[in-house]
Parts: sequence; C-alpha cells; structure tokens
Amino acid sequence: MPKILVLGGTTEASALARALADAGHDAVLSYMGRVERPKPQPIPVRIGGFGGVPGLIAYLHDTAITHVVDATHPFAAQMSGNAVQACAQTGVPLIALTRPAWQPGPGDRWQRVPDMAAAVAALSGPPQNVMLAIGRMHLAEFAPQPQHHYLLRLVDEPGETPPLPRHTIVVDRGPFSAQADEQLMRDHAIDLVVSKNAGGTGSVSKLEAARALNLPVLMIDRPALPPRHETHDIATVLNWLTA
Ligand SMILES: NC(=O)c1ccc[n+]([C@@H]2O[C@H](COP(=O)([O-])OP(=O)(O)OC[C@H]3O[C@@H](n4cnc5c(N)ncnc54)[C@H](OP(=O)(O)O)[C@@H]3O)[C@@H](O)[C@H]2O)c1
Repeated sequence: MPKILVLGGTTEASALARALADAGHDAVLSYMGRVERPKPQPIPVRIGGFGGVPGLIAYLHDTAITHVVDATHPFAAQMSGNAVQACAQTGVPLIALTRPAWQPGPGDRWQRVPDMAAAVAALSGPPQNVMLAIGRMHLAEFAPQPQHHYLLRLVDEPGETPPLPRHTIVVDRGPFSAQADEQLMRDHAIDLVVSKNAGGTGSVSKLEAARALNLPVLMIDRPALPPRHETHDIATVLNWLTA
C-alpha cells in the first residue's frame, strides 16, 4: 500500500488530494503555511518547511513515505529542487504534477523576461499604472522602480507595507473572471500587467482581460528545474502510484 507525500500549495494539489481521498489512498498533503486560512482538505495535512534536503530525507524516512508527488507551484523552485535531490538520495519515486505554461495567442502583447530581476529592469521608463500580479514575496524587488503606481492583488493583507511609494492593494483570492479583471484594470487605468507564467486556469483571467483591453503584459518565464518525471494529468499520477 503506497504512502504518499503530496507537496502542495496549489489548486492542482488540492484536486489531487481529492482524487487520492476518493481512491482510498494513504496520503498527506504538505503546505509551506504562508497563506492564512488554507482550504479544508480531504486528506491529512502537515504544515511548514522540512528543513532543506536533509530535513525532507528525514521526513520521508520517519513517516515511511513510498511515493512523492510534487504538485507545488511552477515558481516554487527551491522546494521542487529539494524534492528531486531527496528522492534521488533515498530512492523514493517522484513525479511532478504541473500545469502547462501559458502560451501567447492572437491579440496578446507579451514581452517575455527570464526572471524577476529582468522584469524589474524592464520597468525602467516613465511612470505607468502597473498591475503587479506576482504575489507578495517579490514586491520589494520592484522598489528600484518607484515611479510607477502599482496595483497589487494579494491573497492576504501583507504583513508589512510594500516598499513601493505609490501602490493600491486589493485583497482577493479568487476565483477571478476575465470580466471582473477587465473592470479592475479599467478602474485603475492600468497601462501594463506584470505576471509570472504560472499556467493553469486559476489566474489566467488577468491575461484574458489584458488581451481584451489591448494591454501589454510583462511575462516572467518559469525558473529552470532539474530533469524529473512530470505529468499535467491527475489520472497519470494515480496510474503511476499503482504501477
Ligand atoms: N511561488 C509562487 O508563485 C507560488 C504561488 C502560489 C502558491 N505557491 C505555493 O507556496 C509555497 C511556497 O512557494 P515558494 O515559491 O516560496 O517555494 P520555494 O521558494 O520553492 O520554497 C522555499 C521553502 O519553503 C518550504 N516549502 C515550500 N513549499 C512547501 C511545501 N509544499 N511543503 C512544505 N514546505 C514547503 C521549503 O522549506 P524547507 O527547505 O525548510 O523544506 C522550501 O525550501 C509552495 O507550496 C507553492 O506551491 C507558490
């Protein structure tokens, strides 16, 4: 009987937790614990970092985990890299459940940049109204471009005031719609949207709204990860568990 560790913090991980519960699997869902009021889950939950690769190895050993599913966000590169290393060192099989990256379509005005630093650099220039849809962890990195007015949509109220002299915070954890995002962008006279290439449906509405309003998008590419067994499909994970 497999004992499964799901590295979560995403809607995909929550959907997998539901599927594992329905299939009667013995599984635990792991969160970093940054978001307040996480959603109730149908399988047991553990919260907090493991303590790097050694901590994760100890956890796998102590709890007799037989399979790891990395369903973290595509930008959670540290956790995903640690999972690759810990599983390689312990021989515990690993699969990643990921979302395909977004691709630009007709009508999209994307400028792709490789990382957050490149996004900050690309914002040099005259003041604009910028929707910074990147989560709260990287806001301080935009301090070198204080000329802009930033619209920050965040899941929770930030603990500290972001070091951006001109900003507006909207607290909302979705689900979002293209229509509502279009209205939000109109209300704040947005000139440019900054987005991580998260993929998935949960936050694609801002891209649909930007397309509808003919707004440019500064799209931050995903961080590179070590090679690993990867799927976009929950059924493939379930088959892999019982193969
Ligand atoms: N980055 C994003 O844009 C984003 C967006 C939405 C949701 N999330 C979710 O938020 C969490 C943190 O993201 P991040 O980008 O800050 O991660 P990260 O930089 O890759 O991870 C930093 C550290 O946080 C701990 N950690 C991360 N995910 C964990 C998990 N699922 N369970 C237990 N510990 C975890 C690990 O600590 P130790 O080294 O001590 O084990 C990891 O080394 C992830 O669960 C991710 O799925 C991230």
